[in-house]
Formats: sequence, C-alpha cells, structure tokens
Amino acid sequence: MVPHQAWTHQDGQLLAQLPNAIRELLDCTTLVIVSNRGPVEFHQTSDGDFVTKRGTGGVITAMSAAARYAEAIWVACAMTSADRLKAEEMRRRGEPFLDLPDLPGFRLRFVVPDPSAYQGYYNRIANPLLWFLQHYLWDTPRAPDIDYRTWQAWHEGYVVVNRLFAEEVVAAAAAVPREPIILLQDYHLYLVPAFIRELRPDLLLHHFVHIPWPDQDYWRLLPLVMRRAICEGLLANDIVGFQTPRHARSFLNTVDANLPDAEVDYRRREVAYRGRITRVRVYPISIDPELVRAVANSEDARRHEEHLQAYRNEFTIVRVDRAEPSKNVVRGFLAYDRLLEAHPELIGRVNFLAFLVPTRMEVAEYINYLDEINAVVGRINAKYANAAEVEGIHWQPVHLFVGDDYPRALAAMRFYDVLLVNAIFDGMNLVAKEGALLNERNGVLILSEGAGAYQQLGQWALTVSPTDIEGTAQALWRGLTMPEAERAWRAEQLRRHVLEHDLRRWLIDQLQDIADLRAERAPHRVAAPS
Ligand code: F6P
Repeated sequence: MVPHQAWTHQDGQLLAQLPNAIRELLDCTTLVIVSNRGPVEFHQTSDGDFVTKRGTGGVITAMSAAARYAEAIWVACAMTSADRLKAEEMRRRGEPFLDLPDLPGFRLRFVVPDPSAYQGYYNRIANPLLWFLQHYLWDTPRAPDIDYRTWQAWHEGYVVVNRLFAEEVVAAAAAVPREPIILLQDYHLYLVPAFIRELRPDLLLHHFVHIPWPDQDYWRLLPLVMRRAICEGLLANDIVGFQTPRHARSFLNTVDANLPDAEVDYRRREVAYRGRITRVRVYPISIDPELVRAVANSEDARRHEEHLQAYRNEFTIVRVDRAEPSKNVVRGFLAYDRLLEAHPELIGRVNFLAFLVPTRMEVAEYINYLDEINAVVGRINAKYANAAEVEGIHWQPVHLFVGDDYPRALAAMRFYDVLLVNAIFDGMNLVAKEGALLNERNGVLILSEGAGAYQQLGQWALTVSPTDIEGTAQALWRGLTMPEAERAWRAEQLRRHVLEHDLRRWLIDQLQDIADLRAERAPHRVAAPS
C-alpha cells in the first residue's frame, strides 16, 4: 500500500546518518529514477488549471524516499491527457524537466507513447502477460495464448515503449550537470537497459525487479524470442536486484537456460555476457516506519478509525490488498466461510473487514476478478445473515471497502485480531510489514509461503499455503484463539524486525553496492571509504 506524503518527508537526520561512501556518491551524482508510473499525475480542472495527484503503487513509495537523500530526476510515462499537455508544453519551451513546485526534490520528464503503443505495452504485455507469468497465475491448458495480437503488442507496444524510455533516459542523463546513476524499476522496462547501452555504453545502470522471478521452466510459457530479449535486456545492467535470494537464483537459472553464451557464476551471483559483468543482488524492500506512523496518526486516519469502530466485533479479521488475482482474495473469503462452518460458535461474534483497491481496470482478468470477489462476499453475507437471523442476531460477516484510501487502511491495521495475507505469489507484500508495525492488539499475522515477506517474517506468523482453504480456515481459528502471551511475543518480534529492516536500509544497501562498483571502476575518483 502507499503512503500519500512520501515526497514531502525531508529528514536531515537520516541524511546525516548515511555512511560516508554513500554521502560522497550522492554529493556528486544525480539519481535518475525510471518507472512506468511517475510520482504524480496531472489533471486539469474545469477552469483549465493543472493540479497534481500522487501516483499510486509500491514503486513510487519506495523511490520517493530516494529523493530525501539526493537530487532526483524521475522519468515516467504520461498517464493522463493533462500529463501529455504538460509534456508538450515542456518541449515547446525547450526545457528538459518539469519542476514540481509542490514536490520539492523532484523533477520529472515524461515519456509520451502513442496510445495504441501504450495499450500493447501496458495492457497486453506488462499486465497481464508478464505479471501473470511472474506470479504463476496462468491456468496453463488455457492460457496464455500467444497469438498475432500478442506479437503485435510485443513489437509495436512493449519494444517501442521501452525504446522511448531509453531515449528519454539518455536525454535526461545529458541534461544533468552531475554524473547520472540510472535506477530502473520493474517489469515494464526489461528492454530499456539494452537500448540505453546502444546510446550510452558508459552509464551506470541498476534495475530493481519488485515482483517475483519464477522458475526458469515456467518462463518457457513465453516464446524464446521474448524471454531472450528480457534476459539480454536485464544483463545490460550493472546490477540487477531482486526481493529474495530465491528470485535471484531463479533469474540466474533463467539466464543459464536461455542464453548459451552467458557465463553464470552462482557463487558470486554474477553473469558475464558479451564482455560485461552483471551483478545479481538481493534487496528486500520495506516500509518507512516513521512515514507510515505519520499517516496512521493523521487526522484523516483518526477519523476513519472512529468510523470503523462500528464495524468491529469481538473478533476482527482484516485484509488490505489491491483487488487483483495474485492476492488470492477469493480463497481468503472461502477460508472464512469454512471457518464459520467449522465453528458456528463464532456466528455473530467475528467480522471480516476487507479493504480492496481496484487496479488495472482496462484488463479483463482484473475486472473479472473484482466481480468474483463481489460474488463470493454477497454469497457469504446472504448465507450467514439468514443463519444469524434464525438466532435473532443482525450480523454481516464480511464488510467490503472498495477504493484507494490509504489512511483508512492504516486505521484498520491498528485493531485487527488477525491480518490475512494469503497471496498466491507476491514480490514482497508491504501490508504484512505495515500491519506488524501499527497493530495495537497483538494481532496475529497469517502469511502465505508465496509472499516474499515470508522469508523475513514467516517465523513469527502463522504459515498458510495459498491454495489450502482448509489450512487457511484452521489458521484463522488458531489466530483468533491464540493465548495472549504467544500473541504478544509474536507481535513484538514482527515489529522489531520491521523496525530494523526498514526502507532506508533497502535504499542504502543498493546505493552502497553502486558506490562500491563505482569505486572499483575508477578508484581515483572516490574519496576514502567510511
Ligand atoms: O511492484 C509491483 C508494482 O509495480 C507496485 O509498484 C504496485 O503495487 C503495482 O505494481 C503498480 O501497478 P500499476 O502501476 O499497474 O497500478
């Protein structure tokens, strides 16, 4: 989930705490952050004035923090018609960047693809094809069908937009006075590094993949041409980062299986390919505790907390997710249904509050999934409303809150008895970390083995296999009835871990690797390490 004020949070103290090598790096470089979605979207009011709205998503939250430390340029796709107008205006004036007066620390450069290219790139290749593949979501006897439309979307969408991104990055790099360091984000941009290399072989390229990297066999669902291009694109980076060691290992295996000329060194986690070395590293992403607490303590969140009191019960289960298939929302409700069947004594005493953010509503798979969620919730509520009425109780077992309201979601995290995170696969899952930080009732975390967060938090959570509805129902029961001492101990360990492994650490680990690499390449340029 996404804090709303990430960019306004300047913190001189954190800057002072940076290791010397990183401070020196940031003093003489400009970070060029590159992602599909930018930190803001422009919208036009009826009077023709431009207003900005914060972009959503984990990438933005995480990379916004980078601007606390350094001069940062953001290269992102124009999403709205007002974004396009702004980009045009900027070009007309011959300015390289848009200044964002209300967002100190950021300057922006838009990539402006033609709408049909964007449609192929985002709505056909990135989502669903790559997203579904990387989260193991395909029902393989039926999907994906790589037909001529997919190929067209690949050539005229994904490749074209990735090339446009590379051109804009190169233009941005040329327009900054300090040495640019390019920080590419995620699966939309796998081909960008190779295109940048054609134009600027000298730039330092770092790419972080926020989502899982599946087993190399599963990648065979994509034609060889596509998976080779993806591997080659990523190997044009100096460093490629993943959320977990398992994802990093899968990437090395995928390169090994698809590029016969690549030399993969599994011990050093490096690949030599076409005269270059790419380092493969692991950086588990996290939250900024101070910022999350600030939003949770805001007036807005407090108002929500008061309002949500009415929805609580003797036991309260909470989930917070984007409404998309990898989050496994439907099976979560089926498990709740099973819990109520197995433990009728809970009828009237437990409420399930689900906070869901609709996403990618241009893609059929996501629209259908939201419909499935609504259907299963309707069915459960009807079924138990009848059962409760027989006993003279008015009770609604599931309350669905649909919409993008981060303060409201954080408000709910304070009071859960159980937080359900049963994603099928997930790069990390920051909800698990936000919940661990904010909860005030020693609430129990139920965590899927498929979430990246499991590798860090699994030992203090109740583990579920995401397809195991019966097991999830049992975990819900165990979580709701766990003795207080055990709840308190687990909650304390979770909170401690999240505080010690925060977003700052995620960023610093990456910057440290970049500083080390720069120092190795040009030792004379770098002052004594810290
Ligand atoms: O890492 C996955 C991610 O890129 C996150 O930033 C965010 O949760 C989501 O995907 C954003 O998706 P979109 O930009 O398509 O809404």
